[in-house]
Amino acid sequence: MQKSLFILTLLILPLSVSKAGPLKNEPITPLSIDNSISAQLAELGDRLFHDTRLSQDNSVSCSSCHQLSQGGADGRARSIGVAGAMGAIKAPTVFNSSYNLAQFWDGRAATLEEQAAGPVHNPVEMNSSWSQVLAKLNRDPAMVATFNKLFDDGITGANITTAIAAFERTLVTTNSRFDRWLLGEETLTEQELKGYQLFRNYGCISCHQGANVGGNMYAYMGALGDYFKNRNTELTQADLGRFNVTGQQEDKHYFKVPSLRLAAINSPYFHDGSVATLEEAIRIMGLYQLGREIPTAHIQDIIAFLNTLVGEHSKLTP
Ligand code: HEC
Ligand code: HEC
Repeated sequence: MQKSLFILTLLILPLSVSKAGPLKNEPITPLSIDNSISAQLAELGDRLFHDTRLSQDNSVSCSSCHQLSQGGADGRARSIGVAGAMGAIKAPTVFNSSYNLAQFWDGRAATLEEQAAGPVHNPVEMNSSWSQVLAKLNRDPAMVATFNKLFDDGITGANITTAIAAFERTLVTTNSRFDRWLLGEETLTEQELKGYQLFRNYGCISCHQGANVGGNMYAYMGALGDYFKNRNTELTQADLGRFNVTGQQEDKHYFKVPSLRLAAINSPYFHDGSVATLEEAIRIMGLYQLGREIPTAHIQDIIAFLNTLVGEHSKLTP
């Protein structure tokens, strides 16, 4: 068995190497989908992700706030949950979230499984509980049959989040122009290359890096200027960021550095959703994270680069 697998690998390897050129040595690496994810589990997760029975009044599903065709978020500064309840923070995209070191802006969920239980119980999101959800799903014979096929213990909260997380791990936007350039399969325009060079030279890359161009560290919002003072709106609990998880003073205003993979198609920006355009978000990053005023022409070049990061997925139509 193992031997035949080895021979198979030898046969496949030269093919894939000749198709994809040598990978460029860059601080950003290509995204790829984990092929070991069970298709049946992910398919169940897809259904649950779109199932409004996960909310108290059957009005809200995960996809209400994470619209896959719209980039995996909701385009709002703050999400709206059951009965019009207003959330406290901007919804990030669910695409490529499996690449994040932890989930939520403040990293309070270690895994996608743990994350998925959050909205079900959150009073301003789905405002429900496992007992309510299980009661509803157990009245659906097709659902019961599917769970029984995939799990020994049928419908449980843990099995629901397992399936949703499996689905989310398939939400990877592969084959972007930038990734193909990394693989030597695509050429970028002069402006796109200049944008990438500026992105590195200004130092954006020190925080937004890796396969997800972010998502792999926490950073202080306003390292070189008081972002919250100048924002002119009242400080909220959500603005405290990572402090809400650790209770440590030094974690105040620290946030998980967001992925920029789909930034070009996911406004508004920042945890407070206070910025409508990518131009303005980049200008603010220059001022508050790098202490630099970035000229408009450079901002346009960086935007051209960010556009090349948008990959493909069958559920995404940017
Ligand atoms: C009412 C709107 C709403 C609903 C419903 C909702 N979410 Fe979210 N989601 C959010 C918001 C807002 C955040 C950010 C919260 C935070 O960071 O404190 C978020 C964060 C996330 C994240 C973390 C992404 C990251 O980069 O950190 C994932 C993954 C996610 N949601 C998946 C789901 C799943 C799965 C469901 C259904 C079980 C769901 N969401 C239901 C609004 C919603
Ligand atoms: C010191 C680390 C750091 C540096 C340097 C940095 N960023 Fe950020 N970036 C962050 C953090 C943290 C956030 C989230 C801030 C918040 O939501 O309050 C962010 C948010 C963003 C966003 C908004 C993404 C979204 O989904 O809301 C964009 C766009 C962005 N950065 C681009 C850039 C660019 C371009 C540069 C270079 C000019 C840059 N960043 C430099 C840490 C950094």
